Amino acid sequence: MVGGVGHCGESDEHAVRSQRDARRRVASDRPWAMFKHTRGQRPEISISLCLMDTPADPYELFDRWFAEAKETEPRVPEAVAVATADSQGRPSVRQVLLKAVDSRGFVFYTNLGSRKASEAVVNPFAAMNFHWKTQSRQVQVRGACVPVSNEEADAYFATRARASKIGAWASKQSQPMEGRGEFESRIAKYTARFGLGDVPRPPFWSGFRIEPDVIEFWEDRSFRLHLRHAYQRTESGWTITELYP
Ligand SMILES: Cc1cc2nc3c(=O)[nH]c(=O)nc-3n(C[C@H](O)[C@H](O)[C@H](O)COP(=O)(O)O)c2cc1C
Repeated sequence: MVGGVGHCGESDEHAVRSQRDARRRVASDRPWAMFKHTRGQRPEISISLCLMDTPADPYELFDRWFAEAKETEPRVPEAVAVATADSQGRPSVRQVLLKAVDSRGFVFYTNLGSRKASEAVVNPFAAMNFHWKTQSRQVQVRGACVPVSNEEADAYFATRARASKIGAWASKQSQPMEGRGEFESRIAKYTARFGLGDVPRPPFWSGFRIEPDVIEFWEDRSFRLHLRHAYQRTESGWTITELYP
C-alpha cells in the first residue's frame, strides 16, 4: 500500500514531500490506480485520501506549496503572472514579484503610471497565476485589486537596494523612451538629487493587493488526470470545490 492514511495528518515538510513523491510514483507507475479509485473500485490504493491535502484555509496550502517551490525552483519562485483588464475588459498580463502574502491577499509593487496600475484603477479586479515547474503545480488567484496603504508601501520601499530605489524614481514605466541614454541621464539626475541622503518612495510608485474571491490549486498527474481544487470565499470562510482537470 502506498501513501497510507496515517501520513495524511503529518505536517512536517519532509513527510509532505515524501508523501507527494510516493503519490507521483503511484500515479506514473500505475495510472489506473488513481483512475479506478475515483470510481471506488480499488480501495486498497489509499492514495485518494492523500490526493491533495485541502486544509480549510487556502493560505495554509499556499504557504506550504510556496515553501516547497522555494526549495526547488532555480530562480524567483515568487515570480507570478498578473492579469489586469482595461475599461473595455481587454486583458493584459505580465510577470511581477510577489512581495507579501497573508490572509488579506497577495501583494505586488509597481509604478502607478504603468499599464497594469492604470488598468487596476479603472477596472479594480485582477488575476494572478503562479506556475512552479519543478513542483508541477499552478495556483490561480482572482479577486479585487486594491491599493496598499502608504505606510505599507513605504515599509516595503525602505527594504529595497538603494539603486533599485533610484531606478524607481528614474523609470517612467510603460512610457515610450527615446533611448537608453535618456534613462541613464534620469538615473544620474536622481542619483545626484538624493546624494548620500535617504531615498523616499516616489509618489507614483506603490503596491496593490489582490484580495481573492477564488484561489485555485492545480497539481499535475499522469495522463492529464490532474488535480484541481477551487477555494471560494464566502461570508463565513471558504468553500472547497473539486474541478475536472
Ligand atoms: C520575473 C519578473 C519579475 C518582475 N517583477 C516586477 C514587479 O514586481 N513589478 C513591476 O512593476 N514589474 C515587474 N516586472 C516587469 C513587468 O513584467 C513589466 O514589464 C512591467 O511592470 C511593465 O508592465 P505593464 O506595462 O504591463 O504595466 C517583472 C518582470 C519579470 C520578468
